[in-house]
Amino acid sequence: MPVLIAPSVLAADFGNLERDSNMINSSEADWFHIDIMDGVFVPNISFGMPVLAAIQKHAKKPLDVHLMIVDPDRYIKNFYELGAAVLTVHYEACDHLHRTIQSIKSYGMKAGVALNPHTPINLLADVIQDIDLVCLMSVNPGFGGQSFIENTYGKIQELKSLIDQKNTSCIIEIDGGVTDKNAAKLISCGADVLVAGSHVFKSDDPKQKIKTLKELG
Ligand code: DX5
Ligand code: ZN
Repeated sequence: MPVLIAPSVLAADFGNLERDSNMINSSEADWFHIDIMDGVFVPNISFGMPVLAAIQKHAKKPLDVHLMIVDPDRYIKNFYELGAAVLTVHYEACDHLHRTIQSIKSYGMKAGVALNPHTPINLLADVIQDIDLVCLMSVNPGFGGQSFIENTYGKIQELKSLIDQKNTSCIIEIDGGVTDKNAAKLISCGADVLVAGSHVFKSDDPKQKIKTLKELG
């Protein structure tokens, strides 16, 4: 499968969401990556439902929603109604992860599970068959523009072998500090989806950055 590129709207210009959404629409990007932060699970607050509704109005590609919030079960229905195609919750934020995954899937959304940089892959061994996507955090969640954590490469390989061993079809997303410098190695280790925020939006030519990432796959 060619690598999927998911620009993170967190790094967009919120005064120009229509313009930036249209940039993603007309680029080679595959998904919109939407970071929802609650100021409790992570030490930052990003944006919530009304802003996502505004993005959804303009987005012509699937919404990949990454919930960095405690007790995400409370809002699964809301994010379904806001058009999420993939809904990702954090392993560290769920007491009953299996139930949460089933609930996401019951709405017809793809279920994703994100792991913080310190969380080992083997904790997913008994639930990997139920997951559509694992999001490996390659920075500590909460902020865009941080440096990539090198330990991620080994985690991708470990996750890939867990997926193979369980003979399941879950895909691997990498989130945080992705650039055209590390993308090729991430893909060769087994990444299927690359999230990129600052690398795309802080550039003079966001579409070209997306194209270059896409071509590295
Ligand atoms: C971090 C978010 C990321 C972030 C990536 O908590 O989950 O999606 O927006 O931004 P960059 O690509 O700038 O690291
Ligand atoms: Zn994210």
